[in-house]
Amino acid sequence: MTKDIIALASDHGGLEMKAMVAALLQEKGFGVLDLGAHDGQSVDYPDFAVAMAQVLKDGRATRGVLMCGSGIGISIAANRFAHVRAALVHDSYGARMCRLHNDANVLVLGGRTTGPEVAKECVEIFLATPFEGGRHARRVAKLAENGQA
Ligand code: RB5
Repeated sequence: MTKDIIALASDHGGLEMKAMVAALLQEKGFGVLDLGAHDGQSVDYPDFAVAMAQVLKDGRATRGVLMCGSGIGISIAANRFAHVRAALVHDSYGARMCRLHNDANVLVLGGRTTGPEVAKECVEIFLATPFEGGRHARRVAKLAENGQA
């Protein structure tokens, strides 16, 4: 069975981590859609959040992983899109909870703040954990409504 396509994008601050995450996903049998950056030149993280939002919108990927130096800028940028629920995560607890309670469709990692082993663990948990639904579905629905205020 073909597994999901996972989109990856980062600025220069998350480039090394993106390569590591791509290798992990391929090893696990996921398809990888690499939206850049493709070299170490200094680039602007909002551009990569836009690229991620587009592929999630048009269905070219089902979920994504975004990275920048801290993970902060690119998560702010990604969450400007109502269909994106991007969770900046630093540990396995966050990776699990962002799926169980928030139905996050994008995991965000800081290339300069999170070590490779923790990052790999976060990716694996993020992809393996289902949304719990129930009362959390009501709350997640309100996230989209709040965007209209
Ligand atoms: C780039 O130097 C850095 O500002 C960026 O990767 C990110 O950490 C921004 O939030």
